[in-house]
Parts: sequence; structure tokens; C-alpha cells
Amino acid sequence: MALRNTNPTETKAWQELASHYNHLNSKHLKELFSEDENRANQLTINWEDFYVDFSKNRITKNTLNLLIKLAQEVNLEDAISKYFGGDIINETEGRAVLHTALRADNTETVLVNDENVVPGIYQVREKIKLFTDAIVSGTHKGFTGKSITDIVNIGIGGSDLGPAMVVDTLQFYKNHLTTHFVSNVDGDHYNEVIKNLNPETTLFVIVSKTFTTQETLSNANSIRRWFLESLPKEAISKHFVAVSTNIDSVKEFGIDASNIFPMKDWVGGRFSLWSAVGLSISLALGYENFENLLNGAQKMDKHFKTTDFSENIPVIAGLLTVWYNNFFNAESEAIIPYTQYLNQFATYLQQGIMESNGKSVDRHGNRVNYQTGTIIWGEPGTNSQHAFFQLIHQGTKLIPTDFIGFVKSLHGDKDHHDKLMSNYFAQTEALMNGKSEDEVLAELNSGNLSEEEKTKLLPFKIFEGNKPTTSILIDKLTPESLGKLIAMYEHKIFVQGIIWNIYSYDQFGVELGKQLAKSILKELKSDSKLEHDGSTNNLLEFYRQNK
Ligand code: F6P
Repeated sequence: MALRNTNPTETKAWQELASHYNHLNSKHLKELFSEDENRANQLTINWEDFYVDFSKNRITKNTLNLLIKLAQEVNLEDAISKYFGGDIINETEGRAVLHTALRADNTETVLVNDENVVPGIYQVREKIKLFTDAIVSGTHKGFTGKSITDIVNIGIGGSDLGPAMVVDTLQFYKNHLTTHFVSNVDGDHYNEVIKNLNPETTLFVIVSKTFTTQETLSNANSIRRWFLESLPKEAISKHFVAVSTNIDSVKEFGIDASNIFPMKDWVGGRFSLWSAVGLSISLALGYENFENLLNGAQKMDKHFKTTDFSENIPVIAGLLTVWYNNFFNAESEAIIPYTQYLNQFATYLQQGIMESNGKSVDRHGNRVNYQTGTIIWGEPGTNSQHAFFQLIHQGTKLIPTDFIGFVKSLHGDKDHHDKLMSNYFAQTEALMNGKSEDEVLAELNSGNLSEEEKTKLLPFKIFEGNKPTTSILIDKLTPESLGKLIAMYEHKIFVQGIIWNIYSYDQFGVELGKQLAKSILKELKSDSKLEHDGSTNNLLEFYRQNK
């Protein structure tokens, strides 16, 4: 059954939120804390190894109640059961959205067109496990009898970002294999990766859901050509495997049927790391760690599916985005992990969030009359503090920020970890409290400045504060906790899409540029007459003359 179709701005809750906003907007977070001594406890959710503190957000219990009322009015509960139940909720592509089935227990039943898809998922998982074990243990030999030492994942978008982010984030748990990622159609990217590789000891994993993506096919073809310069065609079966839904095209490319790891069209590219797209993760970390990642996600799925909205982490996180985006007009959200390991996390979430909710037509086919998807950005702390934090503290834009930190470090350097985490705590406190005129004056008075100098400096040193943050504190970075964290954001995306009444699981917007690039490529390789606008004609001509 289809998702229900409600313009959120026409709900009763929306109107109430609008007047509630007018009242709350003038309040400082400091005031909210002094008004309610229980605020921090009331607005914190402690779930498994996650401690999520929403209390430094510009909300009260009443705001949450109204946001939950909004979720109820747009039938979020019904949408969640359709999402997990395999209904065709990606209506514009006629597909179910079932990344959650990929981490379901093997005893569960998830029906797609009356067929239980869980047994098929476990067959693919078994194939991933056996292949991983053979490569990691060295029993799978390359064509010349040598063990595999390097893995190259060839894919782009969801066929690259998820595996690349997870392998990088969990590098502490990695085995002896070296993993590389080639994504950009920029020839310098693949050349830079293969320049030090030995084809005899390298395994290439071509990942493309559609197996039609120009970047991936160009890279795969060029790398195969390079490979065949030193090894015969028969060697391909020992060194090339593929992950795709498009089995015929993979075979046409020359990959043995036994080397194909299938995936289904009900797995969206940006949510596909849990499927065979995660093969590189399994190879890099070992199958057990891959399974732990999936188990973590499954735990978050259960939390999301069964917990009351008032205690439900992804639901509240998604509702808060709506609160800031639609009432405070905040256009972007920052994701700041206090671990270098999560260096690629914001980049990964950019696809997940912006490709999903960057939509301006509602589920009825009408242009929306309200804001939808937010801009996502971020970098690990403390580096980001020395880069763009100034703007979050004293700029003119409101930027709700997620702070993701861990209680324990992996290598166990407690001194460094305390320093790192003291910054995590300090930043959220500083963003909330700011620095008042009195505080700045006291500070200036303690120095040797003249009255004139103090008056001149005063306005620049005042921090307004009142900047919203969510503190996500996790016990330790493990495959399981990372699985939970990724799934938390996946469900947050879902919640937002339901409230905004948009389809979160198609991505037609990225198609236009792809089509134009195809015809422009022909023009770059010829001297045909150019019939674009004046600017594009000039640019193409300049490139053709000088290349
Ligand atoms: O960027 C558009 C997109 O379709 C993504 O959604 C997808 O993850 C990526 O291209 C790669 O597609 P494929 O896996 O089919 O090569």
C-alpha cells in the first residue's frame, strides 16, 4: 500500500508549532536550563551503548510533544510499518525500500511481491562469507598461484561511499589486506591507485547496482585493459568479481557467473552497504566484523520500529531537523565526529541525506510550499574547530550540529582521549552559553587595556550562544556501534521524508547532468558544430582548442 499523503503545513500540529516557535524563539537555551532543573535528564535518551543528549536543542518537552503530534498527524507509524513491511514506498520507481531486510534475522519473513526475501539474503551472505574466508586465509590464489594482498573496489556513489567510509572508519579492525577505492571517472584516480599494484596479487571488485554507470564501467574497462597487459584473459576469473542487479551485463563484461554477488532493486544505492555492496567491507575486516556491523544496524531497526516516539532516537532526530529547517529557517546541519576514524562520515551522509531528501515535489506531484532537505557538511573535531567553527559560533547562520563522540578510544591513549573529549564537551557548552557582555567586560577589565580599547573590543568578543547541538556519546567505536549509528541516520532520513511528504528513495535529479555529459562527450571528441548557450559553446571551444 502507498504512503499516505499529507501536506505537513496543513496539519493542526504545524499551526501549533508555528505559534510555539514565536514564543520559544526569544528564549535563550540558558534560560530553558534555569527554568527546568530536570531538563538534561528529561531530554536525554540512554539506549544500549548510546547516550543521546537532545537537551542543548532549542526545544522544551512541549516542543517535542507538538513535533510528535505532527508525526502522528502525517501517519509516521503507518509509514514505518510499510517501510519495514516491504510495501512499494518508493512509488516513483515502483520499488520497496528494504535495506532493513538485509540485516533481519534469518527467522524473519519479509515479503516482496508475496515472496519471502530473507532466505535469498542469507544465501548471498553465505557466499560473501565463503569468499571472504578464502581470500583472507589465502586459499583463493590468483592466476599465477599467489595469494591476494590488495582489494580494489570500483564503484561510485552508493557503490563506493558506504564501503569506503566503513573500511576507513573501522581500520582499527582491519586484516592484512590493503583496500583501495576507485570511483571518479578522472583517469588520474585509477592510475594513481594501480600504479603500485601487482595484478597477480590484486582482486578487483566491480560494484554497480545498474552496471550502466559511466564512471564505473570506464574505470573497470581501463583497469581490465591494464590487467590484460600482464596476464591472459583466463586470469580474469581469479581476479575480477562483481556486485550488481544486472547479471546479464556483468556476464557480458566477462565476469564468470560464479563471481557475481547479486543484489536486489529494493536496495537503494545509498543504503546498500549492508548488501553484497559491502563485499569490500567483509574482505577488509573479515566476515564476522561485517556481520557485527549488520547486527548493530538491526538493533537500531528494532529500537526505531518498537520504541515510543518520545523515546525514539531517529524519530526525535528527524523531527528536530524539521523544527530547525521549517521554523528557524536553518538551511544546513553539521556533523562533527570527535574521532579521526569518522573522517568520511559527513561525506557519506551527504549522499544519504541530500540525494534522498533534496526534493521539491510532494507525494501528490505538487511543488512543495515549504522547505525540504537540508545541506549536510562536517569534518572531525578538533580539526574543524580550527577551520570553520568560527562561523558556527559567531556567524549569522543557525547551524544545528551533531557532536558524535566515544567514551573510550581504541588505542587507549587516555591523555589524548581526555584532551579530545574535553573539546567535544567544551564546544557544545560554548555554543550553548556563548559569552555575555558582563563576562567579556570582566575579562577585559582583568587586562591592561584602556577604557577606549575595552569599549572598542567589547562587541567583537560577545558570543550570543543559543546554538543548538545534539550530543551523541557512544561507548566505543566498534563494527556494532557503527552499524547502529549509520542506521540511526538512515531512519532519520526516512522520518524527514515522511513529514515533508516527499519520495526519499528516487534520485531523478542526478540524471539530467549524466545525459548531457554523454552528448557533450561526443562533441569533445569531434569538431561538430556546437549548439549550446553562448557560455557553454565558448567553454567547449576553448577546451577543444587547447586539449
Ligand atoms: O548518483 C546517482 C546514483 O544513481 C546513486 O544513487 C548510486 O549510488 C550511484 O549513482 C551509482 O550507481 P550504480 O551502483 O548503479 O553504479
